[in-house]
Amino acid sequence: MRSVIDILDLSVEELDELVACANDIIANPDKYAHKCAGKKLATLFFEPSTRTRLSFEAAMYELGGNVLSMSDAKSSSAAKGESVADTAKTISCYADIIAMRHPKEGAPLVASLNASVPVINAGDGGHNHPTQTLADLLTISREKGRFDNITVGFCGDLKFGRTVHSLISALSRYENVKFVLISPEELKLPSYVKKDIIQQNNLEYVQTTDLEAVMPELDILYMTRVQRERFFNEEDYLRLKDSYILTPEKLENAKPDLTIMHPLPRVNEISVAVDEDPRACYFKQVLNGKYMRMALILKLLEVK
Ligand code: CP
Repeated sequence: MRSVIDILDLSVEELDELVACANDIIANPDKYAHKCAGKKLATLFFEPSTRTRLSFEAAMYELGGNVLSMSDAKSSSAAKGESVADTAKTISCYADIIAMRHPKEGAPLVASLNASVPVINAGDGGHNHPTQTLADLLTISREKGRFDNITVGFCGDLKFGRTVHSLISALSRYENVKFVLISPEELKLPSYVKKDIIQQNNLEYVQTTDLEAVMPELDILYMTRVQRERFFNEEDYLRLKDSYILTPEKLENAKPDLTIMHPLPRVNEISVAVDEDPRACYFKQVLNGKYMRMALILKLLEVK
């Protein structure tokens, strides 16, 4: 039995398999319509979500399975003080696989150590979000046709942006990937990602506060929301929240084949006028997330 807590729990070969499986699901959805008949997915979300929870649930329904959903911590026994470990043991009695989102870093890992079914980390605090990375990788694969030889700009809240941490980890295993890290000083990438992933692997990177200066060199621009829910101080959030707002004017010097990504939800950081730009791929990411979660559920349930 395997869980996926960190994107590095999956090898490069397994990521390729998942991308191939997702592409096959897109091409032949009927082939997969009953693959999980009789199986149940539990979605345990202790933090708000639109895309991740509903795409996991859509994924399981499209595989012919069923879903048990807990979308609000307040309506579960966590509100009475039940531990993550006991919750995981309990849900293992009802479901074949668990997707868990939790505000505390490491909570899905604790769940996986106590559950008797596979656990998928659906986002833990400001730490990791491996299934968003699966959505991102399918998007990059379909847009660029490769994961190597690319320059990727990450812009916004690189400190608390868990999707950034997981995607950097995933891309660190490919050749000639350059990272351009664009953020205010206060929201720079945490040292455990910079030192343990980027520097440890001798990867090329630059840090800057100036998005427009680096725009012409980017193959991918990954915008992020400033994560209000992680701030201790509302004043700091208000000061930093509009640090970067992508507009059509700011894209004038970008490559014609730039891929513009965002894990969503968006607040202000991409103007809606950019949605008309054919390079905007953030709603493709949303759909790709469902297909990659279908592929991951099949893999972890060992469905052929
Ligand atoms: N990208 C993402 O995690 O979106 P939700 O918070 O809506 O699940």
